[in-house]
Amino acid sequence: HRHLLGIEGLSRPEIEHLLDRADAAVDISRQVEKKRSTLRGRTQINLFFEPSTRTQSSFELAGKRLGADVMNMSVASSSVKKGETLIDTAATLNAMRPDIIVVRHHAAGAVHLLARKVDCAVVNAGDGAHEHPTQALLDALTIRRNKGRIEGLRVAICGDVLHSRVARSNIILLQALGARVRVIGPSTLIPAGIARFGVEVFTDMRAGLDGCDIVMMLRLQRERMNGSFVPSVKEYFRYFGLDGDKLARAAPDALVMHPGPMNRGVEIASDVADGAQSLIREQVEMGVAVRMAVLDVLASHLPNA
Ligand code: CP
Repeated sequence: HRHLLGIEGLSRPEIEHLLDRADAAVDISRQVEKKRSTLRGRTQINLFFEPSTRTQSSFELAGKRLGADVMNMSVASSSVKKGETLIDTAATLNAMRPDIIVVRHHAAGAVHLLARKVDCAVVNAGDGAHEHPTQALLDALTIRRNKGRIEGLRVAICGDVLHSRVARSNIILLQALGARVRVIGPSTLIPAGIARFGVEVFTDMRAGLDGCDIVMMLRLQRERMNGSFVPSVKEYFRYFGLDGDKLARAAPDALVMHPGPMNRGVEIASDVADGAQSLIREQVEMGVAVRMAVLDVLASHLPNA
């Protein structure tokens, strides 16, 4: 593949190859000397139309660890604010001859559109409620390293599934690797027809968590709820917030994940987020490794690689 636009369309061997490469990148990142030269001479542009802490900084570190020149485009102070369209912005950056553009955009499908307008490799860093492929890859890497496998695991994805690109990419990836996925949330935040993706749907969190090996929590994405149903925080936490009591319904060795940013006391209790079963910090470390693997593989398909 020339681009990484989503998990959809990747085969199981392609996913496993990326995870194996990412395992190697974890070892590199844990060394004192982290710099490699695979991307030396290459230019990477990070173009983020939506806020980011983890994804943007880890793509920057990943590119730099592989020797690329990395530029973070500041959309807030760019001519996007003067009305320049996505396509004109893409064409302008394309004229500067980058090798890889990493894009986050609030509209589903915007990254696919951009990929058709540029000559370089494009990575989707999150497009609307559609896909966030590197998040799903880093989640799978974290699970595989802690459980030794993904096949046969019972994974619960909980909360605002409706607005979540993380949920969508994870459902596709985890099922491709043989996990059994459940989604849990209020019916207003579960997409209609999601069962056709092969997931089990629960609106009672305790019932949904029963026996699960992995509990993946999602943030309430109020910024995407424009005018529609917005639950009260207190009530939401009571029914769908992960606290010790609800977590006790999962398997005794269940592990807790959250892609971040977390809203403590809304979808997850602080003691659970910081507790012994939490993988949340490890997910962040795996994020750099997965992005190194993705950049590395895409660079190997660039012209003159
Ligand atoms: N998980 C994730 O995408 O985090 P950021 O929005 O901080 O990049």
